[in-house]
Amino acid sequence: MIVLDQENKLITLHTRSTTYQMKADQHNVLIHTYYGPRADGDFSYLVRYADRACAPNPDEAGLDRTYSLDTLPQEYSSCGVGDFRLPSMELELPSGSSSASLRCTGFEVREGKYALEGLPSFRGTEEDAQTLVVFLEDAAAQVGVELYYGVFERYDLITRSVRVVNRGGERVRLRQCASLCLDFLSADLDLITFDGCHMMERCPSRTPLRPGTQGVGSVRGTSSHQHNPFVVLCGREANEDYGVCYGAMLLYSGSFQALAECSQYDNTRLVMGINPYQFCWTLGPGEAFTAPEAAMVCSPRGLGQMSRQFHRAIRERLIQDPLQGQRRPVLINNWEATYFKFDADKLVEIAETAAPLGIEMFVMDDGWFGGRNDDNEGLGDWWLNTEKLPGGLEALVPRLKKLGMRFGIWIEPEMVNENSRLYREHPDWALKIPERAPARCRNQLVLDFSRPEVCRYVYGQIKAVLSSAEVSYVKWDMNRSLTDVCSAVLPPERQGEVYHRYVLGVYEMLEWLRRDFPHILIEGCAGGGGRFDGGMLYYTPQIWCSDNTDAIDRLRIQYGTSFCYPVSAMGAHVSVVPNEENQRITPMETRGAVAMSGTFGYEMDLSKASQEDKEVIRRQTAFFKEHYDLIQHGDYYRLTDPFRNGPYTAWEQVSPDGREALATLVAGCTRAAPPFLALRLKGLDPDAMYQVNGGEERWSGSALMEAGYPLPMLLGDYRTLQLYLKAD
Ligand code: GLA
Repeated sequence: MIVLDQENKLITLHTRSTTYQMKADQHNVLIHTYYGPRADGDFSYLVRYADRACAPNPDEAGLDRTYSLDTLPQEYSSCGVGDFRLPSMELELPSGSSSASLRCTGFEVREGKYALEGLPSFRGTEEDAQTLVVFLEDAAAQVGVELYYGVFERYDLITRSVRVVNRGGERVRLRQCASLCLDFLSADLDLITFDGCHMMERCPSRTPLRPGTQGVGSVRGTSSHQHNPFVVLCGREANEDYGVCYGAMLLYSGSFQALAECSQYDNTRLVMGINPYQFCWTLGPGEAFTAPEAAMVCSPRGLGQMSRQFHRAIRERLIQDPLQGQRRPVLINNWEATYFKFDADKLVEIAETAAPLGIEMFVMDDGWFGGRNDDNEGLGDWWLNTEKLPGGLEALVPRLKKLGMRFGIWIEPEMVNENSRLYREHPDWALKIPERAPARCRNQLVLDFSRPEVCRYVYGQIKAVLSSAEVSYVKWDMNRSLTDVCSAVLPPERQGEVYHRYVLGVYEMLEWLRRDFPHILIEGCAGGGGRFDGGMLYYTPQIWCSDNTDAIDRLRIQYGTSFCYPVSAMGAHVSVVPNEENQRITPMETRGAVAMSGTFGYEMDLSKASQEDKEVIRRQTAFFKEHYDLIQHGDYYRLTDPFRNGPYTAWEQVSPDGREALATLVAGCTRAAPPFLALRLKGLDPDAMYQVNGGEERWSGSALMEAGYPLPMLLGDYRTLQLYLKAD
């Protein structure tokens, strides 16, 4: 609910459990007064004024030395005019100067949720969302700034975006345009970021804020394996179940920045948006720029509740479901089974073993096109390699269909190998700095997706392939970071637009794909989990979580990922042991239990699997299908932290009514004479009586949550236990 108090220029956004407030003050500076657990009042009483040394006063303040932008909490911070903390916006004016100084000129409420053209955003209906637009103006620059807020009461979610319009007669250049600025009147906060590398993405890192600026970002042109565009600020004492926590996600798949600054008087400012590194956008008279959407959840009750709110909102209001609520198929992917060495018969052989085990879709990974026999060649040539696949998809797909299997295919549209027909014909289509030889990575270059003609050409080729047979699924991969970012067609003064235009090109092609093939389920992927962000999730309901398929490493990766993203978004497969990435040996049961807390599939040559493993797989697929809704859409509880090296890692999914739950536990290395342990569950109905795995005995919800479930001794390394709880 948005409450406008026109007289006091006070704007209050209420969600079910939180309140967010801003106010245009006596000089029409938009100050931020409150964000936290739901409360009523005009919180501007918290904003204090004092004559602080070296704190400049804006012209309107006259001789009032207590009024300074440097000490006020602001809704969207200025630059170069007296606030020395993190700016939200930087404008280069015709004089060559850099600054921004905004004053509020009005605000309005609209029913429903705003949409952003060409950019991903949460979707809301008139019933469940409202939009606030606040109009700001930089009079000297003749620039208008509109701050957009989407309020989703039920999800405790507030989205934000910013639109900048050049209202003057001369060009201005935007050097920074953050999506979110959030000021806190306290510095007593911890910052949690989600960091890592290829094969170990999104590991949480929590540190108390210290004076100065700290944060994360990416200059890779993708959101990256190294840092995720999702951060949390929370009370020092906050844990899974207790404390006020603020989560902020950016719906953007390119270079981003999320910085928290703890300033001299113990205030904190969080600024998040497109990374200003090499960003410079020219706005001619009348032109506008829109910043990507950011979304915030404040949880008054710990990190677990924050995650569950993000999960619900992402599942129900961000992801566009091509299957219209139907269960996603259990799949088998041939990458770790064959790598580039396959032909149609080999694929069908794997499918033949998979189908009777309950696997429903076959995904053909890299190596099916052009001259692609290893990862040095062929990218860019999107036609079937008929030596491997005689008769093309027209011949292959019916063979799979006969087995009752749907078909999916891998593509990597953004890339090109120099050894390809595409590159030989269009060498200028790759990103290159004219004065330099470009850097290769996986021996490939990046196509210039800031150019519409490049996107159109590649899309045309891929569309022809997808139209040649019944395709149910596409895995959209992207296997390198951007370097040599320079477009052959933009003038020198517009090269600062290439990073962002590239992302817009990717989004546009994904739009075309969704428009032309609305029933295809798209999985995002970038060398594993290198582009796991809310921007991609808008187009691709799931994202391959990591190239690391080892079940034990995955415990950590999926744990970190779960802070923002739901189980149904995390691409996860069972693969062979010893694991290809780290040589670890884990039981098939464990690999299945971990993968099914993701999108669930297999990635191995099942024609080589033992009879015993096949039996386990048959049970796993049946169990997964039976409990699909609970596993994929249930409320998610992290029961332990796998980074603490405890005796086991556990998590739980609970149905919204609390009547059903699935707790999964994976033990670490075995030991002799283990202690007796009990697992304390969460989210149950304390008064209900539960049976576990269909057994005779009954436990009350309160007993299971407070005292715990008595764990059996799990002997042997990395054993798993799945407890299915059902209330009477
Ligand atoms: C990336 C993906 C893998 C696989 C390969 C194919 O590494 O993450 O799953 O598709 O590319 O080249």
